[in-house]
Order: sequence, then structure tokens, then C-alpha cells
Amino acid sequence: MLNKIGNILEELKSTKPVSKEEIEQFRIKYLGKKGIITSLFQDFKKVPNEKKKEFGQMINTLKKQALEKIIELSNSLEQAEDIVTKNDLSLPGDILKQGSRHPVSIVRNEIIEIFSHLGFTVSEGPEIEDDNHVFTKLNFPPEHPARDMQDTFFIYKNEDEANRQNDILLRTHTSSVQVRVMENQKPPIRTISPGRVFRNEAISARAHCIFHQVEGLYIDKNVSFADLKQTLLYFSQEMFGKETQIRLRPSYFPFTEPSAEMDVSCKICNGKGCNVCKYTGWLEVLGCGMVDPNVLINNDIDPEIYTGFAFGMGVERLAMLKYQINDLRLYFENDIRFLEQFTYAF
Ligand code: PHE
Repeated sequence: MLNKIGNILEELKSTKPVSKEEIEQFRIKYLGKKGIITSLFQDFKKVPNEKKKEFGQMINTLKKQALEKIIELSNSLEQAEDIVTKNDLSLPGDILKQGSRHPVSIVRNEIIEIFSHLGFTVSEGPEIEDDNHVFTKLNFPPEHPARDMQDTFFIYKNEDEANRQNDILLRTHTSSVQVRVMENQKPPIRTISPGRVFRNEAISARAHCIFHQVEGLYIDKNVSFADLKQTLLYFSQEMFGKETQIRLRPSYFPFTEPSAEMDVSCKICNGKGCNVCKYTGWLEVLGCGMVDPNVLINNDIDPEIYTGFAFGMGVERLAMLKYQINDLRLYFENDIRFLEQFTYAF
């Protein structure tokens, strides 16, 4: 009997199951309900008393060895699996999805780039402003409709009309940044101010209460309307292509005189007329004009010595024309399917 156990022990030591299935078969063979070791325990009853101690020790050793072998084999199998699945250097790498810039950022950066070729610097200012920088110093008359709650988001409005210039509001244009530049810098000034602006408008495909602008200001001796026109022509051809033509239509802004609105020839139909340009052949892109002498005076710049031009454009609108986007709301929805279409790497 003891010999038999010795043989089983030898056999047990020499078998080397390698797969999960083989380990399980090994377990059943030795430790299963009808397994060899289990039946040895049943034989134990028949063993004469004086042999019981020795026999008992041997089957316990056998059981222990069998269990240890199973644990050891299972562990090494697991490790081997780990090496194959986790550390296999020949496996293809994880593909990282590369993000893309928001179309508003792409177009804003492109505008900045074009004007930087003409020597324009970039200025930034606060989004929460006072009336003084957004309206008063820009020659807005006290009764101008932009100063109405319906057009501007006010944060703090003074009851006292005489105190109006201290009202706190969300800037409605980045012309306010140009006022700050004029306060801090003597001419020549040649700067653009990109930034987010806010207007109290109902949200639709064509209007939003938040959008982005780039406004420009150039003040020096002898700056003329011809300089403005040439600057805008250069910009338009860089932005929309060398064939692009511009036209200026008379307009009105409190801070420029004379003022104009600029159209570019529709590049979709080459001026022939299509539904994007509403069959006019032209697309309106920006407002501009010669800086009103009152604005210069308000900012301690002598209009007898200096003249200047200014312009302002909506970035979303330019991006709409460039990419033929037909709904302003798409810019704010963060829909990946929309955003991933713009891969221009500025
Ligand atoms: N500030 C004007 C706007 O927000 C744009 C503009 C800027 C027009 C400079 C003329 C000159 O609509």
C-alpha cells in the first residue's frame, strides 16, 4: 500500500499539464470526487491501526503536493498569458484619434496671420466691460439703441442717467479693446483685436447671442480711405482667393466717418448669382470706415495730426462663407461629426 502511494507521488511529480484544460483534468484525476487521492482517503479506514499514522501522513503529503502543483501551474500559465497579451511588443499600437481645431479658431487664426503680414499686432481685453469703453468713448450718442437692454447684456445698470458710462456689461464688440489700446499707446497704432462678444439676440440659424469678432485699428499720420481699401482688398484675396473682388457700400457707425460695409464677390458662383449670395453675386463680410475725429479726441489723440481707419468682422460669418456652413448654432453644439470635418492645421 505504501509503495502504491510512493508510485502515485512519482507519477504526480512527473506529469506536467500545460493548458488550462490539462490542469483541470489533472485536478479531477487526483483530487476529484472519484480521484486517486480521494479514494486513498476512503482506503484509510481499512488500514490497520498501527499503520494509520504513517499512511495518514503520506496521503496528506500527496494531497498537499497535488494542490501545490495545481496552484503553481495555474500561476505560471496566467503569467504566460500576460506576457502574450500585455507585453507583446509586436502587437500593433493603439491608434490615438487626433483632434482638430474648431472652425472658429481656424478662421480666427487665419485672419490674425493675414494681418500680421501687414504689421498688425494682436490686442486683447476684458469680456466684461464698462459702458465707457464699449459705447461712450466710441461716440455712441446717449440714446443709441445698443444701450438698450434689448440689445446689450447688462451686469450692472446705474439708475442715474448721468452715471451711464459706469454701467457694467458684456462687450458687444471688440472695439472696446481698441479704446484700451488708444488709452495706453501713442500713434502709430496698428492692431487687431480678436475676441468673443455678446448681444442680446434670439438664437437662430443666422443669429446667436455669443460670437467672435476680429476688429482692426490703424492710426498714423496721413492714413487715408485708400489705405483702408487696399488693406481690405489684400485681406479678402488672401482669405477667399486671388480672384476675389471687393465692393464698399456706404453705411453708418457712430465711431467711423465715413463708414462702409464691405462685400466680397461670391466665390461659390464667381459672382454669377447662387443661393449662398442670394443671387446678388456678393457676400457681406465686414463693417469699416475712417475713425471719427470725436473718437480720437475722446482718447487724447489730435485729429489734426492723426487719422485712422477701423474695421470689424464676425469670425463665424467668415467661417460660414469659407466652409459653406448654413447654421450658426452648429458652432456651439460640440457635435464631433461637425467638428471633425475641419482639419486645417493652423
Ligand atoms: N464694431 C462694429 C460691429 O461690431 C464693426 C466695425 C468696426 C465697423 C470698426 C466699423 C469699424 O459691428
